[in-house]
Amino acid sequence: MIKKFPFIIYALTLLLACCTDNQKAAAQTTASLKETFKNDFLIGTAMDARQIEEKDTAADRLIKQQFNAVTPENIMKAEIIQPGWNTYNFDLADKLVAYAQQNNMKLNAHNLIWHSQLPPFMHNVQDADSVRQYFINHITTVASRYDGKVYSWDVVNEALNEDGTLRNSVFLQKLGDDYIVEAFRLAQKAAPHTKLYYNDYNIEQPKKRAGAIALIKKIQAAGVRIDGVGIQGHWRANNVPMEDIEESIKEFAALGIEVMFTELDLGVLPNPWDNNTADVSATATGSAKMNPYANGLPDSVEHAQAKAYADLFTLFLKYKKNISRITFWGVNDGQSWLNNWPVPGRANYREQRRNSCPDPAA
Ligand code: G3I
Repeated sequence: MIKKFPFIIYALTLLLACCTDNQKAAAQTTASLKETFKNDFLIGTAMDARQIEEKDTAADRLIKQQFNAVTPENIMKAEIIQPGWNTYNFDLADKLVAYAQQNNMKLNAHNLIWHSQLPPFMHNVQDADSVRQYFINHITTVASRYDGKVYSWDVVNEALNEDGTLRNSVFLQKLGDDYIVEAFRLAQKAAPHTKLYYNDYNIEQPKKRAGAIALIKKIQAAGVRIDGVGIQGHWRANNVPMEDIEESIKEFAALGIEVMFTELDLGVLPNPWDNNTADVSATATGSAKMNPYANGLPDSVEHAQAKAYADLFTLFLKYKKNISRITFWGVNDGQSWLNNWPVPGRANYREQRRNSCPDPAA
């Protein structure tokens, strides 16, 4: 196990931070991430639409070289896959299914039920019967189409508040407390050959973790299948909650389900708030002070980030029996959502890497 650490530091530095000529040369002789961790857990990445269409050549090479699992960053979300009532657009999702099959990658479909990125028509739907109709149709249609074609679904995404109570979403308001159990029940029926997961951010934190555990136990007590839990892992490189993460792995694993880190990224920019939310609706205004690396990331910050990734992977390896997948939220920090959230237009990447990947063939 120890022998892997220098590689982890090196590889994550290469993939997520800088890319010097020496590192490029070394990359051609070093094992890939998926090869290095092949006996431990799957190594995945989120893919954006251009990458799914194989229009981003450098990213395409990197994805095929490094990863054995993929998650669509956006294109299987409800607003894209069901843009009109009972009108579906499966084009990009079908492409991703074919891409994953051809490249022998496990596809985690993301997601079926989420309060965010709902189709525009849902903003006008107020009556409970219509919400229920949407809920049943969406899960049944989409999950059954991809049963046996995707490896897993994030069935419900981000249903909890920070204190562990249920988020006051349209689904909670119109369908009541049991809607999450019902979502898993419908998914189980529609996709009997697909793994079913609950996915959320900050569920390593004690109160939210307790809420997630109660939710999972409720699903299990109802006799409904849940195969795993995804801890998203949107953390800050200088403040990774290692003890909470370790405790969470133990507590979630004790429920008899897989534990995954599903959207891992370690931001290096200042946080406008005291909390560590990953709620996409939370936004803040910018200032030069809030964007300190506009002209490039100092080596010291980059090395601290690489060290934080190495520490995390040390922990992941300790619990490899319980962890089935680690997925990074994006192939390249230059294209990450973190450059536009919570403050728009910041640089959470090395200057020379903006909007492009290090090309392993270059
Ligand atoms: O595709 C449209 C494009 O046509 C349009 O011109 C452009 C103008 O703003 O918007 C494009 O859509 C954007 C989309 O990303 C694709 O780039 C949306 O505005 C933007 O809101 C959306 O952001 C995504 C965000 O979820 C939205 O909820 C991020 O890429 C994506 O990384 C992020 O992912 C979430 C996970 O699903 C759940 N967990 C948190 C995570 C980070 O927020």
